Amino acid sequence: MSVEPRQLIGVRGMRSRDVPAVLEIEQVSYGYPWSERIFRDCLRVGYHAWVATDLDEQVIGYALLSVAVGEAHVLNLCVAPDARGHGVADRLLEALIGQAEAERAERVLLEVRPSNKSARRLYKRCGFERIATRPGYYPAPDGREDALLLALDLI
Ligand SMILES: CC(C)(COP(=O)(O)OP(=O)(O)OC[C@H]1O[C@@H](n2cnc3c(N)ncnc32)[C@H](O)[C@@H]1OP(=O)(O)O)[C@@H](O)C(=O)NCCC(=O)NCCS
Repeated sequence: MSVEPRQLIGVRGMRSRDVPAVLEIEQVSYGYPWSERIFRDCLRVGYHAWVATDLDEQVIGYALLSVAVGEAHVLNLCVAPDARGHGVADRLLEALIGQAEAERAERVLLEVRPSNKSARRLYKRCGFERIATRPGYYPAPDGREDALLLALDLI
């Protein structure tokens, strides 16, 4: 019997009570997940944060963005494994980019691991271009991994 993927219903602002569900997805999605404290600090300092929800109001993805001095920075973008491949990340990116435009940011920046092929395809499809490499940016099992710095120009 095949299991139906969870269907995206909407994207809304992340609330404090969403953090446990967000953390569950974070922990199964990353080798080096953010702690609960990082998410709570992001909400406390007022970074923009969204969750994608399904028909049952369950969190199936989330995204966080900071905007400062004309630049928006994607801090985190993640979709639950059983909801991937159905455009949820696209919808979250739309929210991020819309916010960056509303705040008149000139560009959106993000870091991605070179090994993260699905994320790199997503960002390329959405118009991001590589502008630099940050050597040894990420922890990795065999030492450190570089980050690719990608940018989407908004003006
Ligand atoms: C990277 C990530 C956010 C992508 O999320 P996603 O919701 O699966 O992304 P999308 O559905 O928009 O796109 C994924 C694939 O589904 C395809 N797709 C999108 N909508 C679709 C639809 N309606 N029907 C069929 N396929 C679809 C896309 O074309 C894409 O295919 P590709 O990977 O072959 O290019 C997700 O894999 C993830 O959370 N990974 C772990 C965390 C992570 O690495 N985050 C990024 C850190 S920089």
